[in-house]
Amino acid sequence: MTVSGRQSIRVTVNGAVYEREVEPRLLLGDFLRDELGLRGVHSGCEHGSCGACTVLVDGDSVHACLTFAVQVDGAQITTVEGLADGERLHPIQQAFWDHHALQCGYCTPGMLLSALDIIAKYPLEDDAEIREQLSGNLCRCTGYDNIVRAVRETARALRGGER
Ligand code: FES
Ligand code: FES
Repeated sequence: MTVSGRQSIRVTVNGAVYEREVEPRLLLGDFLRDELGLRGVHSGCEHGSCGACTVLVDGDSVHACLTFAVQVDGAQITTVEGLADGERLHPIQQAFWDHHALQCGYCTPGMLLSALDIIAKYPLEDDAEIREQLSGNLCRCTGYDNIVRAVRETARALRGGER
């Protein structure tokens, strides 16, 4: 903690290391958007209900609106900006594109990162399980069917086999 009350943090975001002094009350979402310029971190409800702000912290999906920046000191963070490899989309992004799994796109960054989290952690045996595990991410546009298709296809592709 510094004299001003600001606290030093060191984080790796999308592979780049950042060291900053931040107010202890600064939210992770505001840190990523305002300090680092990562505007793909969307802010919706700001109380943990919509999932628009979801990012990965050490591989786990986290609501950036409910997390303080000082809590992620030392962590590896992934935002939607870190998914593509140059011009080549990440498989989950490509699947969303191929299946028209977005319309306005406001929910999409959080949806993509939550999808990667659940693909890594759950068997996703059927569409009902995909819907259940994605239920913390709200989409006002798509009706979810195409999102579920995209997640199903990506899970299959990343696991290298048929389900
Ligand atoms: S803005 Fe974080 S969950 Fe809605
Ligand atoms: S695409 Fe508009 S909220 Fe999901």
